Amino acid sequence: MNSAITNGEAERDNTGAREESLRMVSSQPIENEPISDEELRPHVLENFIGQPRLKAQLQLFLDAARKRDVPPDHVLLAGPPGLGKTTLAMIVANELEVPIRVTSGPAIQHAGDLASILSSLDAGEVLFIDEIHRLPRAAEELLYIAMEDFRVDVMVGKGPGASSIPLTLPRFTVIGATTREGMLPSPLRARFGFTAHLDFYPHEELEKLIERSAQVLDVRLGAGAARELSLRSRGTPRIANRLLRRVRDWKIVHDLNVVDPPAVEKALALYQIDSEGLDRLDIAVLKAIVTSFAGGPVGLNNLSAMVGEEAETVETVCEPYLVREGFLVRTPKGRVATAKAWQHLGLEPKVDVNKLF
Ligand SMILES: Nc1ncnc2c1ncn2[C@@H]1O[C@H](COP(=O)(O)OP(=O)(O)O)[C@@H](O)[C@H]1O
Ligand SMILES: [Mg+2]
Repeated sequence: MNSAITNGEAERDNTGAREESLRMVSSQPIENEPISDEELRPHVLENFIGQPRLKAQLQLFLDAARKRDVPPDHVLLAGPPGLGKTTLAMIVANELEVPIRVTSGPAIQHAGDLASILSSLDAGEVLFIDEIHRLPRAAEELLYIAMEDFRVDVMVGKGPGASSIPLTLPRFTVIGATTREGMLPSPLRARFGFTAHLDFYPHEELEKLIERSAQVLDVRLGAGAARELSLRSRGTPRIANRLLRRVRDWKIVHDLNVVDPPAVEKALALYQIDSEGLDRLDIAVLKAIVTSFAGGPVGLNNLSAMVGEEAETVETVCEPYLVREGFLVRTPKGRVATAKAWQHLGLEPKVDVNKLF
């Protein structure tokens, strides 16, 4: 295998990650999870589950690079946390049988840090830059040139006497990962020959992923158990694998041979995760809108004060999933709970929900 280093550090210091780290259904890695992420990471494209279009694109891209026998173009992997960006970067390097160097935007504080990594790359090597949208501006500029011309200008000396010496680099491949593609400056974005967008996984794909992980973890799932888990995983492989590990705990403690759907339900109820993958905070948000604000619309700040959370946590952690699943709508006047939200809480809408939009 490659000299892969886990990138968990970079992800854990994300904004909002501290509050989020307490949640079972967080899409960010928690505690020592980057290590357990490793054991479930597929190493070849064939074992990467789902995302069929992206896989086909990447397969073609890799086959062409192998046939031409040159390092492939730079690749940008964009999408929410936990969907497989780091995994794909590792797979690309593994499939090309080249080493991979791992760094991240926040780990590079000065352009010089990046210059020294670039100038030590071997021909054909993959440089994986996680959270590439968080590179300092000066490093970004250095990176465009390196990606385009395979050259880096190394500064020698300081102050008025400083000069730059151009250094030619061997051809290499940058793989950038970002959760915020929109924050990348367009000149940098334009340097990538291929941008892959990762999307939330449909239940059926998560089911397959859970079955594969269960084999790796030596958990026998009974009929329907993988489906129960997939429904609670918020379209996110990292969450699916995490819930599966908690189910494994349950299996071990209760000496079960096979884990059936009721066991899944009981294990996850312990963590207050309901049938739709909503946790305590999601439910608190919906309840606040419905009971305290008569269904909405309510502004983000009022809402977060009501549930006792940072506005940013509510906005970046709860809302995307609630909106995607049709529990919540964001309108110019504020957040509105949908009929589905009332129903999920077991309540009759007291207002004509459609009039709130
Ligand atoms: N398509 C997939 N097939 C199998 N496992 C996956 C897939 N996508 C993600 N995973 C698993 O989910 C976890 C998180 O994936 P990761 O690549 O670290 O996500 P990201 O870098 O996008 O945050 C890892 O354990 C990884 O193996
Ligand atoms: Mg990652």
